[in-house]
Amino acid sequence: MNNEIKLFCPATVANVACGFDVLGFCLDSIGDEMVVRKTKEKGICITKIEGYDLPLEATKNVAGVAAIAMYEHAQPDCGFEIEIYKNIKPGSGIGSSAASAVGIVFGINELLGRPYNKTQLTYFAMKGEALASKSEHADNLAPALFGGFTLVKSTLPLDILEIPTPKELFATLIHPQIEIKTSEAREILPKEVSLKNATTQWANVGSLIHALHTNDYKLIHRSLEDIIVEPYRKQLIPHFDDLKFAAMQAGALGCAISGSGPSIFALSKGKDIAKRVEKAMKSMYSKTDIAYNTFVSTINTKGINIINP
Ligand code: HSE
Repeated sequence: MNNEIKLFCPATVANVACGFDVLGFCLDSIGDEMVVRKTKEKGICITKIEGYDLPLEATKNVAGVAAIAMYEHAQPDCGFEIEIYKNIKPGSGIGSSAASAVGIVFGINELLGRPYNKTQLTYFAMKGEALASKSEHADNLAPALFGGFTLVKSTLPLDILEIPTPKELFATLIHPQIEIKTSEAREILPKEVSLKNATTQWANVGSLIHALHTNDYKLIHRSLEDIIVEPYRKQLIPHFDDLKFAAMQAGALGCAISGSGPSIFALSKGKDIAKRVEKAMKSMYSKTDIAYNTFVSTINTKGINIINP
């Protein structure tokens, strides 16, 4: 059995418009890399973090907390050291903390001979995610681990459904270079919603799931609507409405906040339209004084994967 593993830990889009805290999908154009190594000395030790300034101390680090939760459960007779090469900016809304948490639990599991299944790994990773967002949700973690689209039916007990990915679906992302803390973006949300809004929202979730199963792109278009969370959070993202308008005019099936923002995603049928949407987003945001970057990605149906040495 190997003593070391190198991983690609993908970025993800949570919520997918109508599915706050339950829906997500996996990207493949951007992700972190991580090396997990077995050590004789017991415990969890993060030896290196490159890319962004994050704490090395395991108890203060999302990956470290997830690893400790798993380590305490597994009680192996060895330890692990971890190197994290971050490409996903923390606070960008594309699952930076989830990539770290998923990477470490997946890596340790591989080095221990896979004693846990992916749902159990999600449970440990949730402990790390909670450090970043002050809430145990798994809508970024599940797609990072399973790939494709996932629906977290419940977190207690953890129940994750894998949803099929229509082949021609492409994502376009824009990341305005501002930081939004997930915990703060959660605090501004209402504690209760009206029955009328709840009815509209769960109809959209149901129809989106049906559309993904039946490759019904027109229904995807009609379902990608968030009337509960977006009205509050869009105020945190400068020019959100104009950007969404530009994306839709360019032919996107839908456009919404990625996770808790500030990134915004659009889904399109085919790469050409996704590229056109990217161009429209760039053209709109270039008129502002906010720096940004954009990319187009296929939906990553594999999720986290091992990088060959
Ligand atoms: N579902 C989460 C939220 C994703 O929107 O707050 C970000 O962690």
